[in-house]
Amino acid sequence: MKVVTVAQQKGGDGKSTNIAHLTFDFLERGLRVAVCELDPQGNVASTLRQFETFCTASKMFEPSSTDSLHAALAGLPDGPLVRVIAADNAMADVNMRKFDQVAGAFKQNVEALAAYFDVLLIDTAPSLNVSLASALNASDCVLSPIQMEAYSIQGIRKMLTVIGNIRKLNPKLKFLGMLPNMVDARDPRQVRNLAELKAAYPQLMIPLEIGRRGSIADAMATGVPVWKIKKTTARKASQEVRAVAAYVFEKMEIAA
Ligand SMILES: Nc1ncnc2c1ncn2[C@@H]1O[C@H](COP(=O)(O)OP(=O)(O)O)[C@@H](O)[C@H]1O
Ligand SMILES: [Mg+2]
Repeated sequence: MKVVTVAQQKGGDGKSTNIAHLTFDFLERGLRVAVCELDPQGNVASTLRQFETFCTASKMFEPSSTDSLHAALAGLPDGPLVRVIAADNAMADVNMRKFDQVAGAFKQNVEALAAYFDVLLIDTAPSLNVSLASALNASDCVLSPIQMEAYSIQGIRKMLTVIGNIRKLNPKLKFLGMLPNMVDARDPRQVRNLAELKAAYPQLMIPLEIGRRGSIADAMATGVPVWKIKKTTARKASQEVRAVAAYVFEKMEIAA
C-alpha cells in the first residue's frame, strides 16, 4: 500500500478537492482506496459521501484501534472500492498531544490498512500540527496544492521546512511537488508568481497546473468528479485534473 498525503499550511488552496479527485480517479483505475480525513471540517467526507466510512480519524492515533480496524475491514468485498476514515471533533484533542505520543500509533494503524488497500490518501488540516507531522511520518509521498498568491506561497515555504524535518525521521518520504491550483492565466500577478516559483524551486514544482474552474467547485458540492459534470466548461477542467491524477499515480510507483 502506498500512502499519499496532501498538505499545504494555508486553507483553501485545494487539498480536499485534490484528495477527492485522486480518490475518484484511482477507483476508476481499479484500485482499493482508503481515504483518511484529518481536517475536522469534513469537506472530503462530504464530497465522498457515497462511500462507506469505517473509522473516525482520531481513532487512528490510538494504539488500541488496530484490532478494531482489522475487525471492521475483514469482510470487505474483493475488487476496486473506496472506504473513508471520517474526521471527527476529537482531532482537536489529538493535536493537543505531543508527536511522540501519537505518531507511532498512527503509523501502526496505517500499516494495518495495508492488508486491505492499495493506496491510502490522507487529507490534512491547514495547520502545521501534530496530526500533519504524523501523516507525513507515515507517508510515502506528499503533494502540496498551491494558489499563485502571496499567502499561499508563504504557507508553502513553511511546509517545505516541515517536510524537510520529517524526512529525517522518515527518509522514504518523497515530495511530489507543489501543484499550482486555481491558476488564472489572465491575471498578470498570478502569471508572475507562477514564473517566480518555477524559477525559485525548479525541482519542486509539478509540471502541471489546474485552472480556476467553476465546474470543479460544482463537482465537489455534488459529490462527483468533475468529469461527470456535463458542461462544456468541465472538459478542460477534467483534462487538467486527470493529468494530475495520472502524474501522482505514476510517481507513487504502486506495485502491479
Ligand atoms: N481549480 C479550482 N477551480 C475552482 N475552484 C476550486 C479549484 N480547486 C478548489 N476549488 C474550490 O476552492 C475551495 C477550496 O478548496 P479546498 O479543496 O476545500 O481547499 P483546502 O482543502 O486546501 O482548504 C472549495 O470550495 C473548492 O471547491
Ligand atoms: Mg480541506
